[in-house]
Amino acid sequence: MTSNTGSVIATVAVAVGASMIVATIPTPAVGNDAQLLKDAEDTFKPLPANAATPDAPITPERVELGRKLFFDPRFSIDGTVSCSRCHLSALYGTDGLPKAKGAFDQLNDRRAPTVLNAALQFKAHWRGDRENVEDQASRALTGPVSFGNPDNASAMAKVKAIPGYTELFRKAFPDDPDPVTIGNFGKTIGAYERTLMTPARFDEYLAGNTEALSEPERQGLRIFMDTGCSGCHNGVVVGGGMFRKFGGVEDYWKETGSKAIDKGRFDVTNNPADMYVFKVPGLRNAAKAPPYFHDGSVRTLPEAVRIMAKVQLGKTLSDQDTKAIVTFLGSLTGKLPQNFAEAPVLPAAGFAPQP
Ligand code: HEC
Ligand code: HEC
Repeated sequence: MTSNTGSVIATVAVAVGASMIVATIPTPAVGNDAQLLKDAEDTFKPLPANAATPDAPITPERVELGRKLFFDPRFSIDGTVSCSRCHLSALYGTDGLPKAKGAFDQLNDRRAPTVLNAALQFKAHWRGDRENVEDQASRALTGPVSFGNPDNASAMAKVKAIPGYTELFRKAFPDDPDPVTIGNFGKTIGAYERTLMTPARFDEYLAGNTEALSEPERQGLRIFMDTGCSGCHNGVVVGGGMFRKFGGVEDYWKETGSKAIDKGRFDVTNNPADMYVFKVPGLRNAAKAPPYFHDGSVRTLPEAVRIMAKVQLGKTLSDQDTKAIVTFLGSLTGKLPQNFAEAPVLPAAGFAPQP
């Protein structure tokens, strides 16, 4: 008891001494703040206002129609599946499940990644088997474990059966004589997704406001870069720019405990070099969107970070460094866009189930 008290007093004395030193000399942990900002600016990019491109322009009419379609379950085979069923606003564009559930509650092979900032990635889906958000959306209606429609014609017939949509398609595609097509369905949902940006404090930091990140967050950023995470997780989405083998150093399933082993992009290309290769996911809002990895096998962010260091870089992170990286990742959590946080009002019509 007495010696315990003694040691507490001693610790306090040291701490006071240390903080006096810290107050007069710049702390060495973050190092040079100007250098950290420069390294970060060279590695990452602030979010743009939206992800429109010359090939994928956005107009208010397309965005608003795409938003309605995104939230509408009535084009699915059983009338229960909308994009928003698996990409919920309240869970930052994910569903919280290890594997998403589609029509008739069928399980997908992989976890639903977020739609937030997704349009800025170089490809869509874990295995990059969709080119962009337009391609992704236009092929979802016939996915057997998502909307479950047998073909595009029957899916589009469901859209046309809801009074109100045809007029909205006309307004969104004024030059199109027959605008209710699967191609335009993809374009209008894509236009909506191209507005789903979540600017975060990290973006303010990249714009030069070093105070936008706390000291522990800046320390975590330094460790994230020095450990080698930003070799893959870089650019505007802090990922989403390349394919890499999951488990470059060590088989991933030994750490994740995955029951089924997904061969990743190999199943798409049949190229042996693509065995266990996945798209490097973006880490914006990762703190808000567990579980982690393509199969949702890991439930917490610290555990995902520890596994990454181990299987991608062959490094064993100290608990302190893991915590620092997790603290930094929290600064990537942005504000939900208003047009995603709030559900739109849809054109009214009863759902007629398939015979
Ligand atoms: C049944 C659940 C489900 C529904 C419904 C669903 N998704 Fe997804 N979404 C997923 C899953 C699972 C993936 C990952 C698929 C893969 O990589 O193999 C995904 C991937 C995506 C991606 C790629 C994200 C990335 O980081 O690569 C986008 C974009 C997306 N969905 C948008 C949509 C849109 C738009 C709709 C509606 C047209 C939709 N989703 C409907 C489950 C769903
Ligand atoms: C060699 C490339 C590479 C490096 C280096 C790397 N990662 Fe990854 N990271 C990936 C890939 C690929 C995935 C997707 C794995 C999967 O689920 O299939 C991933 C997934 C993740 C995820 C899960 C995201 C989600 O939404 O499921 C987190 C978190 C993560 N990485 C953090 C880190 C951290 C922190 C570091 C540094 C310690 C790091 N990564 C280093 C390639 C890399």
